[in-house]
Amino acid sequence: MQSKKRVITYGTFDMFHVGHLNLLNRLAEFGDELIVAVSTDEFNALKGKKTLIPYEQRVEIVRHIKCVSEVIAEESWEQKIEDIQKYDIDIFAMGNDWEGKFDFLTPHCEVLYLPRTEDISTTELKIALNEFLQEHGAGFGV
Ligand code: CTP
Repeated sequence: MQSKKRVITYGTFDMFHVGHLNLLNRLAEFGDELIVAVSTDEFNALKGKKTLIPYEQRVEIVRHIKCVSEVIAEESWEQKIEDIQKYDIDIFAMGNDWEGKFDFLTPHCEVLYLPRTEDISTTELKIALNEFLQEHGAGFGV
């Protein structure tokens, strides 16, 4: 019997949006199982990134996306080779904002970069929220 084809991706997935959903759905089509490594709050702090949604809740959301088989913690930059071996990964894939950055993994598995969904990101959502609150105030609709 042929073994299952496994895909892995890494990300913060803060304020989960349709760009995240599109990426995960497209990644799942490349294999039988999709493993998502979600960045912990501690690792984000190391990267200088502050999330609005805490790690446990980001995991809970990603874990319930239909095409996701398993969620693991992303705790360091160095864990990828170990993860690829541990989870028997065939394809490592990210959005193309990371183009070329993970080519060093090619001795271990196939490396893919997929086009990002246009006009949406966590950063853009934060900016839009800020503008919205400036225009309408925090008490809108109450
Ligand atoms: N991604 C995507 N399309 C988008 C936004 C993100 O395909 N419009 C992908 C990224 O390329 C990455 C994954 O989703 O592979 C997780 O990205 P993440 O950094 O968590 O999301 P962003 O919205 O890019 O967050 P930020 O603005 O904080 O960088």
